[in-house]
Amino acid sequence: MYLHPEFEKLTRSEIEVLQMERLKKTIDHCMNTEFYRRRFAESGITPGDIRTLADLGKIPFTTKQDLRDSYPFKMSAVPLSRVVRLHSSSGTTGTPTVILHTQRDLDEWANAVARCLYMVGLRPGDIFQNSSGYGMFTGGLGFQYGAERLGMLTVPAAAGNTKRQIKFITDFGTTALHAIPSYAGRLYEVMEEMGIDPRRDTHLHTLIIGAEPHSTHLHTLIIGAEPHSEEQRRRIEQMLGVKAYNSFGMSEMCGPGVAFECREQNGLHIWEDYYIVEIVDPVTLEPVPEGEVGELVLTTINREAMPLLRYRTRDLTRILPGECPCGRHHLRLDRMKGRSDDMMILKGVNIFPIQVETVLMQFPELGNDYLITLTNEEANDLMTVEVELNAFSDDYHRLQSLTKEITRQLKDEILITPVVRLVSKGSLPKQEGKAVRVRDLRKTLI
Ligand code: COA
Ligand code: AMP
Ligand code: ZN
Repeated sequence: MYLHPEFEKLTRSEIEVLQMERLKKTIDHCMNTEFYRRRFAESGITPGDIRTLADLGKIPFTTKQDLRDSYPFKMSAVPLSRVVRLHSSSGTTGTPTVILHTQRDLDEWANAVARCLYMVGLRPGDIFQNSSGYGMFTGGLGFQYGAERLGMLTVPAAAGNTKRQIKFITDFGTTALHAIPSYAGRLYEVMEEMGIDPRRDTHLHTLIIGAEPHSTHLHTLIIGAEPHSEEQRRRIEQMLGVKAYNSFGMSEMCGPGVAFECREQNGLHIWEDYYIVEIVDPVTLEPVPEGEVGELVLTTINREAMPLLRYRTRDLTRILPGECPCGRHHLRLDRMKGRSDDMMILKGVNIFPIQVETVLMQFPELGNDYLITLTNEEANDLMTVEVELNAFSDDYHRLQSLTKEITRQLKDEILITPVVRLVSKGSLPKQEGKAVRVRDLRKTLI
């Protein structure tokens, strides 16, 4: 039932003792970075002032802007010769962020992901397929190493090419799949087109008469990387005939493996031997009353290359009350309720409106007004960018090549392909005189 019983079975007081021990070490280690030395000096505190977990509140928050300002290596707490991997956020406009890992960090990350996968019942002998993007997307290598660490045959299918994805599922007998929730619908749609019914009970069938070509062995789906509702989860489970477990993570905290549902599906256990959790009011930055929704703030206590103290994730959630019947005492987070900034997530890719704006503003033919609309009709997430032209033009070929160039440059920046529409000046909607920049028309988001 437990992959790491020595950590998973800790009681609340044991967790707190371990956290304090690791926090002290982490803070000392942070003093290897000029960033935290300066932060502590500026706020008039020393590592010795942090004597209890409650003292954590004395330390200033770390923000995404701090990571940008430290790009690329300024927050490394170890010599660069000990860093073996980095993951970077997308985008060429503005400054991206970089997260660094030592070999120990990668090992601990793989352990955390393996623990999550074991917790939902996956074992050596399962065949795990990952439809996440690889490369800089942490869902790729993060699940790859975690699933391998657990001892599963792991299929690095990566994103896209849905027919091939399904061929792998049927040919290899994939039993567990990691997919972004909005992509699960697309998978089902294409399975239907291919005459495959994933709901058939192939386990029983296979035992009796051998493999069944028009069904799958899928029994578990790991869904995460973007907000989704309970209703969406149930629909995915029914559609694909699987149990679907919510997985939460972010590149700043390694990637997947931060918080994960157990088989009770009643909230996401956050691994408190890796992270200290705070929930704060995003405006006052004070702790919210117990059980209320606020912004998740995380402190890493098991990381070498780039420890982060009180990192403002910008994700909104709450801590669920009560004990979990699974016996783990690690806190449970409610499913994410949204963000306290303007970041959008589409097809599992994080996008800030400013990235779109910066690209558009490089074209002298375009005016200042634009509108981003997000939709998800027919199991496909779509971003439409309408942008006003500076001057009227009826030169069809010029407009067409301009649209193509804008689309290409946007794709380079935001990694997904938007539909670009050039519209005439003054035609975009305004609300109380102000331009509307983003309309999210996706159904059943939260
Ligand atoms: N995961 C996996 N595949 C996806 C996907 C997703 N979230 N969203 C779309 N796709 C598939 C599409 O279905 C399509 O394949 P198909 O036509 O064979 O069905 C293919 O990817 C291209 O999709 P399209 O919408 O035309 O491309 P795009 O240029 O807008 O997006 C992707 C490009 C899909 C490669 C990009 O959105 C991506 O890499 N997404 C995954 C991000 C990720 O892994 N995040 C996890 C972070 S931990
Ligand atoms: P990335 O750094 O690209 O992995 O993106 C991390 C962000 O994705 C998080 O900060 C969340 O906003 C979002 N995210 C990841 N997992 C989930 C999840 N299970 N539910 C809702 N949002 C998620
Ligand atoms: Zn549990």
